[in-house]
Amino acid sequence: MKLKKCTLVLMAALLCACGGKPEEPAQTVMPEKGTEQAVQTDDGRLIGISMPDTELERWERDAKYLEREFRDRGYDVILDFGDNDPEKQADVIKSFIDKNVDLILVTPVEKDSLTEVLDSAAKNEIPVVSYDRLIMGTDAVSYYVSFDNYEVGQIQGEYIRDALQLDSSSGPFNLEIVSGDMGDLNAGFFYKGAMDVLSPYIDSGKLNVPSGLVSAEETAIPSWDTETAKDNFSERLSEYYSDGTKLDAVLCANDSTAYGVEQAIEAGYSGGSVVITGQDGDELNLANIVDGKQSMTVYKDNYREAMAAYGLCVAVMNNQTPDERIIRISDWDFECKYNTEDYDNGKGIVPSFLLTPVLVTKDTMQKELIDTGFYTLDDKGYPHQAADYSL
Ligand code: GAL
Repeated sequence: MKLKKCTLVLMAALLCACGGKPEEPAQTVMPEKGTEQAVQTDDGRLIGISMPDTELERWERDAKYLEREFRDRGYDVILDFGDNDPEKQADVIKSFIDKNVDLILVTPVEKDSLTEVLDSAAKNEIPVVSYDRLIMGTDAVSYYVSFDNYEVGQIQGEYIRDALQLDSSSGPFNLEIVSGDMGDLNAGFFYKGAMDVLSPYIDSGKLNVPSGLVSAEETAIPSWDTETAKDNFSERLSEYYSDGTKLDAVLCANDSTAYGVEQAIEAGYSGGSVVITGQDGDELNLANIVDGKQSMTVYKDNYREAMAAYGLCVAVMNNQTPDERIIRISDWDFECKYNTEDYDNGKGIVPSFLLTPVLVTKDTMQKELIDTGFYTLDDKGYPHQAADYSL
């Protein structure tokens, strides 16, 4: 299934044609799907993109797709990776403002640390779109585009529930929890989605947590760092499992933390196979899924996320106030929900566009990642990002 790039361009053009200030309701006359219109491609506008880091594989994919979407249509792009440093990220955004960019797209390193600099963007009338992670504490953010991150956690929790057959077997089973960075709002969504599934089994005693570490805060891994996850989990293994206690499952919030946990298990646990969750589809983790060392990952298709963000950004720069109609007009061939209720960043609700995450296991990898063209298999059967994913 490939995306129709032309429909996005068309959608941008349709929205362009309609005028109106950002704070005003859209004056858009909704066209029927597929209506032909003149296409505006090159207006030389400048976009500032600030990603959080290069430690995690996914941000390089997101950046590649975003940059290409804009550049292919004649936009100029300044791209920066924040080195996981909130202050550096704020400085970079300030430099975007100094260059008078037309729009800023940001994935925050730390959710609360951009208030001042984004207030200055607002004063300079530069629109801001929050990409993948919601930016808190500022009314400068026009839109949020991401996935349904609660659902990501739900998929992970349901996977553990089904793999351990919690509804039909007597148990009890031993579970450990490894959460994400608390400076990333998504970490809380993942945790809640998973724990809404798993907590009843913990409460009933069918799932035990031998380390006693249960809350999101006490299981958090700063910066989603693999080495930190590995050290943290090695300690847990030697403290709570060295007496032969069986470990049945680890709820890992994402792939980088899962990879650390897998290394710790390989080095310090010999009690047999462990169900391990993940998220992102990092290559090392996909290889571990092929080898049976990780059970699943939740894939959030960066390409489609970038497409949705591109469409929104173009509409915003053209003084539109896109709403759920943009989903219909752009004819995206992926699921996307428009949410105007749940994403309050402390200064008000941020209208949000949320794509749908997918479960990837050894059995579904071919269909979800290879057939879609995002990854190719090497001759040993391990997936690698397709060199140039294009239509
Ligand atoms: C989250 C993001 C996830 C993942 C995580 C780190 O904010 O939504 O997709 O990248 O950071 O792996």
